[in-house]
Amino acid sequence: SEEEVVNVTFIDKAGRSIDVRGKVGDNVLYLAHRFDIEMEGACEASLACTTCHCYVLDDYYDKLPFAEEKEDDLLDMAPFLKENSRLGCQIILTKELEGLKVELPKATRNFYVDGHKPKPH
Ligand code: FES
Repeated sequence: SEEEVVNVTFIDKAGRSIDVRGKVGDNVLYLAHRFDIEMEGACEASLACTTCHCYVLDDYYDKLPFAEEKEDDLLDMAPFLKENSRLGCQIILTKELEGLKVELPKATRNFYVDGHKPKPH
């Protein structure tokens, strides 16, 4: 329903702005995939890679729950880390995030922790 809609803007690697409609409960990685936005997500949201790294723009960063320790540890290994870096798969849409803007970094590093291997696509 309309109640559930959360509008999200992605800024892709080429700097293009892409507006999409997500819904409450979506995670940003799966939302990106639904609209063919180039957020990789090698471990499929299992918090074992950094390929869903993104920057949360404006004041939306402060509206997110704090990252858990594992997310912070992974982010420490992410290239082009910034103050407003988060892992896209850990951002769950809520009504409060209406208008959310996330930007993709220029590159991500693909590696796996704990022997985790992603399923082939
Ligand atoms: Fe691997 Fe988000 S997809 S941590």
